[in-house]
Amino acid sequence: MIKSIERAGAGLRWIDQTKLPGKLSYRESTDYFEIIRAIKRLEIRGAPAIGIAAAYGMAVAVEKARVFDLAFIKQVGSQFKKARPTAINLFWAVDRVVARAEADGSGAVSDSGCLWQEAEAIHSEDAEMCRKIGENGAELIEDGETVLTHCNTGALATGGIGTALGVIYTCRNRGKNLRVFADETRPLLQGARLTAWELKQENIDVTLICDNTAGSLMRQGRIDRVIVGADRIARNGDVANKIGTYSLAVLARENNVPFYVAAPSSTFDRQVESGDLIPIEERPAEEVTDCFTTRTAPEGIAVYSPAFDITPRDLVSRYISDTGVETGGRA
Ligand code: MRU
Repeated sequence: MIKSIERAGAGLRWIDQTKLPGKLSYRESTDYFEIIRAIKRLEIRGAPAIGIAAAYGMAVAVEKARVFDLAFIKQVGSQFKKARPTAINLFWAVDRVVARAEADGSGAVSDSGCLWQEAEAIHSEDAEMCRKIGENGAELIEDGETVLTHCNTGALATGGIGTALGVIYTCRNRGKNLRVFADETRPLLQGARLTAWELKQENIDVTLICDNTAGSLMRQGRIDRVIVGADRIARNGDVANKIGTYSLAVLARENNVPFYVAAPSSTFDRQVESGDLIPIEERPAEEVTDCFTTRTAPEGIAVYSPAFDITPRDLVSRYISDTGVETGGRA
């Protein structure tokens, strides 16, 4: 399966997801500012993937600067944390790398090796968590079912097989034939550009739909389950995920379709009490007014473009994680 991020000597190599599906192109850098920029531009995206990239990015920074003091490491970490505000995996990964530096150097680490080790551990642990999510989620799905998914939650978005898509891949590997409807996911089309591409690469039966087709499909009884990922899950079970997830959850309840959220342990934020307290990223107006290169809205129009929304726990049927399956408020 495709690797979206990997260490390349003293640098990081990643798939530039903004170029997909037209071009599978890789970028490589030993400059941590470029890695931050790649996260901001969504060249690297998906909650687990941005955490992994930030962890490697901190090792890249220390290796290049040959400055091994904790103050520098913390400063680089806080620069990474500013790249995107919603996915907790980013903050979790940076804090892990800082903690490792503190533990290894008791104030002054002697080389960048421990940072690389921690980044590699975060990466391989994520792959393992994806594998377990797949195993746990596959138990809930029957052969021949049709699932609907939103955004991209696959290998591109994680260090392994993915979260919601990981469940789909695991079903396939167990001989369960599924049909998938992928929301295009306005405005940046992670569903159309990335999920449709990824699932096709893996020979999964996938059909692309406009976001606003989902309700009608559910009403016609053509969807057995909705499975999405998450960027952050609050202590009370509220879920921050790609804008449009909340609408899907409401539609799923209305039409009696089970609604599953698949996420690794690193996406659960025990510090934040409820979804209302999760910071929601707002994206630039051009992502809505310009359909990639073509202007589709009048000049000067006001735009509101939150990248994520909150789905209350009451609309979630099950949380599928590496540690097991938990019942949501809509059981
Ligand atoms: O803005 P993006 O593309 O980074 O948003 C990604 C999502 O919303 C995914 O659903 C989420 O990160 C889960 S990825 C396994």
